[in-house]
Amino acid sequence: MSEHDEHSSFIKTPQQLITVVLLAFVVPIIGIVMLVQLVVNRPQADPAALSPEAVAARLQPAGKVEFGAAAGAGAAKSGEQIVQEVCAACHQTGVANAPKTGDKAAWAPRLKLGLNGLLQSVIKGKGAMAPRAGTGLSDQELAAAIVSIANQSGGSLKEPAAPKK
Ligand code: HEC
Repeated sequence: MSEHDEHSSFIKTPQQLITVVLLAFVVPIIGIVMLVQLVVNRPQADPAALSPEAVAARLQPAGKVEFGAAAGAGAAKSGEQIVQEVCAACHQTGVANAPKTGDKAAWAPRLKLGLNGLLQSVIKGKGAMAPRAGTGLSDQELAAAIVSIANQSGGSLKEPAAPKK
C-alpha cells in the first residue's frame, strides 16, 4: 500500500484510469462540437423566410404560362402572342392529336369550317382541347389566335376587326 502512496495520484484503479482517459477525449470533443455549432449556426434562418409563401416564391420556375391572363387585362393580346403563350403548348408539337401549326394536310379539312366554324370549335372545346382552350380569352382574341395558326398552316383567314369599345 505504502509504495503506491508515493504517487499522489487520485487514480487508484483501472476503472478510474479508463474513466479519466475517456473523459480526456470526450470533453474536448464536446467542446469542439459546441464551438462548431456556434459558428455554423451564426446566420440564423429568418423564420419569415421559411413561410410557405416565401418558399413557394423561391421555388418558382423561371417562366410560367398564365392561361387566360389576357382576360380583362386591358389591351387585347395579339393572335401571335396568344398562340405562343397558350395554343403552342399543344399545336406546336401536336400534343394529344392537336393539328400542328404548319401541317397543311392536318389543317386543310378543318379550314373548310371557316373562321366562324373553327371559332365555335375552340369556344366549345374539341377533343382534348378544353372550351376556350382552357382560357378566359375573348372571342376576338381566340379568333385572332386561330387566324394566326391557320394562316401558318395553309389558310388565308382574315382577322376580324376588333370590336368597338
Ligand atoms: C390542351 C391542348 C390544346 C391547347 C392548349 C389548344 N388546343 Fe386547339 N386543339 C387541340 C386538339 C387536341 C385539337 C383537335 C381536336 C379534335 O379534332 O379532336 C385542337 C383543334 C383545334 C382547332 C380545330 C378545330 C376544328 O374544328 O377542327 C383549332 C382552330 C384550334 N385547336 C385552335 C386553338 C387555339 C386558337 C388555341 C389557343 C387559344 C388552342 N387551339 C389551344 C388541343 C389544344
